Order: sequence, then structure tokens, then C-alpha cells
Amino acid sequence: MPKVEIAADQAFPVLKENILVDGFHVVVDLEKSHGAVIVDALEGKEYLDCYGYFATLPVGHNHPKLGDEGFHESLMTAALANPSNSDIYSREFAAFVKGFRDLAVSDDFRYLFFVAGGGLAVENTMKAAFDWKAQQNRARGIEGGADKILHFRDAFHGRTGYTLSVTNTDPTKTDDFPQFDWPRISSPYIDFPLDEATVAAKEEKACTEIESAFERDPDGIAAILIEPIQAEGGDHRFRPEFFARLREYADRFEALLIFDEV
Ligand SMILES: Cc1ncc(COP(=O)(O)O)c(C=O)c1O
Repeated sequence: MPKVEIAADQAFPVLKENILVDGFHVVVDLEKSHGAVIVDALEGKEYLDCYGYFATLPVGHNHPKLGDEGFHESLMTAALANPSNSDIYSREFAAFVKGFRDLAVSDDFRYLFFVAGGGLAVENTMKAAFDWKAQQNRARGIEGGADKILHFRDAFHGRTGYTLSVTNTDPTKTDDFPQFDWPRISSPYIDFPLDEATVAAKEEKACTEIESAFERDPDGIAAILIEPIQAEGGDHRFRPEFFARLREYADRFEALLIFDEV
């Protein structure tokens, strides 16, 4: 059996027959593409990859270190069985977790939780916050509350269920779907060239909004959610001083502080 059964010139006809095809007009040759070069299987044309599949391929195509035979074999063994890793454990999963911990995660993060997809990852942090805040409330004799996420203007956190209520970059992609009315705070990002006084004033305004949101609903806000750099919102950067204040607010008002670095 050939490795791939569809010829390059049949890829578009097959796809168009079955799904909405509104992406790029390229049939990526996944074997021939290399590094930051995408090879089009239709004409053999090469394109400089400034896209990286929305960052799902950060190391580029066919990175030599990913070519290791043993690695491929383990990957294939795991992919062919596709076990539900959170319930049943394998050596392959343990090896992945160890490699991920050793290479990518600092000891500050005591436990890891794996989920595929950015929106779902953010939703799970929200669920953890709701659960945690509900327990805090209950311990103080309060039933209910724990039902809001404080977030920022120009934020993008995905377009899944909960994340639709905190994503607000392009209203045409969110506004026709039901959403929760959660506190949205102005975004005190740096305007370049940096003028400390202007940014500090924007931070002051945001902090006033944050304080009044918490004062209005101290038992409701379960978390402060922010992207350390707003990407889709327009490459917005914040000062470390602002993050330090968010940490203080989270501690003072009993909320979790969530950084979305998807
Ligand atoms: C900051 C941020 N959060 C969440 C997401 C959602 O990720 P996904 O599209 O994998 O659901 C993105 C996607 O670009 C993102 O940039």
C-alpha cells in the first residue's frame, strides 16, 4: 500500500467534495518541506513559512532531531493504540511526561495537566478556578458565587464555550453566540516608544476598574485571566509592575491568577 493514497492533484477535489475549503491554496508536501520552507506538492514550489500552522510547528518541518527511529517507533506505538492517558498509563506516556518536564517545565509548576487545544486548556483553568473559589466560599458558609472570570479588553482566549465570554478581539466571530457577562477591564498595555507615565496612568485606571469589580462581587470572581502578551489583540505588552499588582489583587480578593500563554 502506498504511504499516502491520494495524489497531490486529487487533494483539493476530494476535500472540496467533503468539507469547507477556505484555507491556503497549497497542498503541503509534509515529507519534502524542511525548516521554514513549505514545499507545495502540486507544483514543487517552495514558500517561506511565516506561519508555522499558528505555532503548532515551532521547530519547523522535519527537524533532524525529530527523525530519530526509536522516537518514531514509540510515537507510532502510542498513536496506534491512542489510550486515554488520564485513566490508563503506559511507559510511552511516562516517557513523554518525563521529557516534557525535563525540557520544558520549571520546578515551580508542581503538577502538569495535559489537554489538546488552547481554548480547552484555558477552559480547564477556569473550571479549576470555579471549583477552588466555590470551596473557599463554602468554607466561609457561602453557597453560590464563584461564577465569573475577570478578564481584559482586546483579549483572545479561544472560541470554545466559556472562552467565548472572555475573547473580544473580533466581534463578528463572537457576538452572535450566547455569552456570560463577566467583568472586562481596560487593557493597560505599553504604547511604544515607552512613556512610563502614560502606561502608569493606564494601569491606575485598570486597577480602579479591577477594585470596583471585586468590591461589587467579592464572592463571584474566581480568577483574573490575562495573556502575558496579547497577540491577536495587537501585540500588546504589559509592564511587570502591572502583573505584580494582579498578583496582589488575586491574593487580596481570593481569586486565582491565570496566565494564558497559548
Ligand atoms: C492566547 C491564546 N489563547 C487561546 C487560544 C486558543 O487556542 P486554540 O485555537 O488551540 O483553541 C489562542 C489561539 O491562538 C491564543 O492565542
